[in-house]
Amino acid sequence: MINSNGTTNYAVILAAGSGERMGFSTPKQFLKLAGRTVIEHTLAAFQDHPLIHEIFIVVSPKDRLYLEELLLKNPVPKVTRILGGGATRKDSSWAGVGAIPADALDHANILMHDAVRPFVTRRIITETIEALQHHEAVDVAVPAVDTIISVDDENFIRDIPDRSALRRGQTPQGFRAAVLKKAHELSHADPDCSVTDDCKLILKYNLGDVFVVRGEEKNIKITYPEDLFLADKIFQVNSSALEDGPPLRRIQDKVVTVFGATKGIGQAVMELGEHYGGRMHGFAASSGCDVSNPEDVRLALQHVMQTEGRIDAVVNTAGILRSGRLADRDPADIEREIAVNYLGSINVVRAALPLLQATRGGICLFTSSSFTRGRSLYTIYSSSKAAIVNLVQGVAEEAAPQGVRINAINPERTATPMRVENFGPEPPESLLTARAVAEATIKTLFANFSGTVVDVRRSSASL
Ligand code: C5P
Repeated sequence: MINSNGTTNYAVILAAGSGERMGFSTPKQFLKLAGRTVIEHTLAAFQDHPLIHEIFIVVSPKDRLYLEELLLKNPVPKVTRILGGGATRKDSSWAGVGAIPADALDHANILMHDAVRPFVTRRIITETIEALQHHEAVDVAVPAVDTIISVDDENFIRDIPDRSALRRGQTPQGFRAAVLKKAHELSHADPDCSVTDDCKLILKYNLGDVFVVRGEEKNIKITYPEDLFLADKIFQVNSSALEDGPPLRRIQDKVVTVFGATKGIGQAVMELGEHYGGRMHGFAASSGCDVSNPEDVRLALQHVMQTEGRIDAVVNTAGILRSGRLADRDPADIEREIAVNYLGSINVVRAALPLLQATRGGICLFTSSSFTRGRSLYTIYSSSKAAIVNLVQGVAEEAAPQGVRINAINPERTATPMRVENFGPEPPESLLTARAVAEATIKTLFANFSGTVVDVRRSSASL
């Protein structure tokens, strides 16, 4: 497949590093992040990009089998070659360049990308490819916010370059394929060449200009153990992933079951789903389905299975919020709040998982912004919402082999009856609409990530 301008765009994913700096025996590209390995997230970014035609993966021979198993479980159709990597990053990059068919070289671009940068965005890939129409090579970089100092062997400062001209390089790095191949060939014939960076090779041998595309702070390279914590957090603030995510019409003809469907966000999910052609089935305590009762949940899902023959997605918005100092509250009332907010979600997940395997479906539960920090007077509500996050993360890993995804929606203050009941009237412009939360919920149901807390903010309300 080629572009309308006759160019084939190859992504070469460099995954042959050993990850020594991480201090783990598993290379960092194969560590788990939000339900999938780091490299699977990276591959998804290129698989889902309409301008990428083929993907080559460069991997160390010892990891090849593991990678092949991953691809069997979670196919990435654009992957056409798996290549053996070399001792250095430059050797691995050469393996990728050398695999481009000779007759394609003059009409091909290569996007060389670190497997350990799973947060590359659609915009970065698009702009890199577009810039290759005018330039031989493209780097992706962000401004240097720290002052960069250059030191000598004894650790004394040699120079402090002007920060305004400094950038921190990321990937992808884009190249016209023939130009990058020439650069590598010249370096092989050059005994003095110690250059390892592909863009620097282009400059060293005067093969063209290297344009710089704006990167993103979040396009981090997972290098050290603490980067995995940061990466988890980046996944949690995932509203930008939804911008690149599936359209609402993905719900068309999908069988969706909603618990808590008669009020607030649940009702908005029902209405929006119906508008986009989803086959929506709603249940609520007011109509006899109490999520805290496993039998009610089982019967509800059984009813949908009998009617439709399958279930593609399940949403549980049922929740209650009661205030009061913990010491002063009635024990039965506390138990009820936990039973609905926490056990209710457990009941929904346990009953839904076996049914969703057949459709490789998705589940959305609801947390609250209070999950990050317990709130006085709302200790049971906020701690039950923190429990939802942990539940989602754990189940995401357990359900990944069956292809079932589960995420938590984290709406900021939303205009719902529950909110009004507890906090009285508030200025509408300070609240999210239930419809905006419903949009994020439907997109998340059909997005390809799992184990994530999707923050929905007013600024992301027009997702
Ligand atoms: O550790 P480093 O910054 O070089 O890693 C950047 C990327 O290059 C990683 O995705 C790593 O797997 C890859 N790499 C490679 N072959 C090597 C060294 C690193 O493919 N020999």
